Amino acid sequence: MSAITLPVGDEVGAAAFSETSVLLSTYKRAPMELVGGEGVELIDSDGKRYLDFASGIAVNALGYGDPGIARAISESLGTGLIHASNLYRTAPGEQLASKLVERSFASKVFFCNSGAEANEGAFKFARRWARKIGTDAKVEIIALRGSFHGRLFASLAATDRPSYRAPFRPLAGAVSICERDIGEKAASAYSMRIFWADSAL
Ligand SMILES: Cc1ncc(COP(=O)(O)O)c(C=O)c1O
Repeated sequence: MSAITLPVGDEVGAAAFSETSVLLSTYKRAPMELVGGEGVELIDSDGKRYLDFASGIAVNALGYGDPGIARAISESLGTGLIHASNLYRTAPGEQLASKLVERSFASKVFFCNSGAEANEGAFKFARRWARKIGTDAKVEIIALRGSFHGRLFASLAATDRPSYRAPFRPLAGAVSICERDIGEKAASAYSMRIFWADSAL
């Protein structure tokens, strides 16, 4: 295979890019411009091919130039329904939800727009479930040291990146960061401690 692996952005390249771009510099973008993709490969504006191990940060691991996806998008364009609000029913939404239910543990599907929104949804489902089983005590969301869970207020509180968090304090409460490796004995004492920790830092 002639492709090389996809590079990631560095501080110097990101700084240079942010000087010329009107896009907010929330990501360190890699230096090349992508213009196409085929299967597991991405192609830049110089025709250079990259083997994509990132695959949409594991979100859209669907490959590039897939004929089935192209057909589905083209059919959707043909109906004129690029977007319809959640207030209305459309066949593709119902079909996708049914397929997800068939292939997973769940009986209902919640569609959302981003990873952060999915995580915020998960936090809300967890709290709602706890209240349903009759306890107001199980409200704490615990995330791991070094984790990234998104940039909304609760998902940012569960993101252990001090420079991402500091400008936006106070973050959502009752979200704590715990160490990755704690022994079994320490775990119960530790969980009591983080329950009371100030999660807005
Ligand atoms: C593990 C993880 N969770 C959440 C997110 C947030 O996703 P989004 O940027 O779509 O809100 C990301 C994004 O990189 C992620 O890698």
